[in-house]
Amino acid sequence: MPRRKKLYEGKAKIIYQGPEPGTIVQYFKDDATAFNNKKKASIVGKGVINNLISEYLMNKISKIGVKTHFLRRLNIREQLVKKVEIIPVEVVVRNIAAGSISKRFAIEEGTKLPRSMVEYYYKDDNLGDPLISEEHITGFGWANINEIEEILNTSLIINDFLKDLFMGVGLKLIDFKIEFGRLYLGNKAEIILADEFSPDNCRLWDSKTNEKMDKDRFRRDLGNVASAYQEVANRLGIDLKKTHSYD
Ligand code: TMP
Repeated sequence: MPRRKKLYEGKAKIIYQGPEPGTIVQYFKDDATAFNNKKKASIVGKGVINNLISEYLMNKISKIGVKTHFLRRLNIREQLVKKVEIIPVEVVVRNIAAGSISKRFAIEEGTKLPRSMVEYYYKDDNLGDPLISEEHITGFGWANINEIEEILNTSLIINDFLKDLFMGVGLKLIDFKIEFGRLYLGNKAEIILADEFSPDNCRLWDSKTNEKMDKDRFRRDLGNVASAYQEVANRLGIDLKKTHSYD
């Protein structure tokens, strides 16, 4: 079957040329990697679930006035999104200590942070995505001061909104990573949310039991990765039957 032109293959997604100018297609793979590609596996069904969860969350986020790249889901593994110039900065927002912040500052996992904290990492696999400051971002020209201010404010708005949304379905939003891109309208660039939002790029713990419902199940060999992702989708009220048909 003739396929779309492949533009780029990442660790969890493939990017194809879109059907119209200014669009691309994101194909969600089942592949999972951790620790900068050192650990790899295929988790059957993960791509399909993440496509649906990301569609759901991007639609919710856009309803609160945050601009996103999402246009529409095309089928069980693909979504059409606006083509943007990705800013090479991974924005991490944390509510509760876990993962690298726990290690870096010796804070027990599960400790509530004094306030929501935003961190920036330089998106470069060869360097292992190092932690960076605003000074690096503006100094090296990855984003200007206005852009980074907008990225910071938007990330906190997304955090407030999603924290409540997940709380409503019995999940604690511990932390997440998002990416932004520039959408050019003439010579003016607009900052919009890009990439994806799924259990691959956030931590979600069950509100009552603190059971991990995200990619840490893979990173830490806890098992039942796909069923945890499925449970997140179920709690959000996402109809997984959609995954059985192309619509
Ligand atoms: P960290 O605690 O390992 O720094 O991760 C913080 C959050 O960012 C967590 O929700 C997982 C997510 N994340 C990614 O999406 N991609 C990555 O490459 C890393 C390291 C973390």
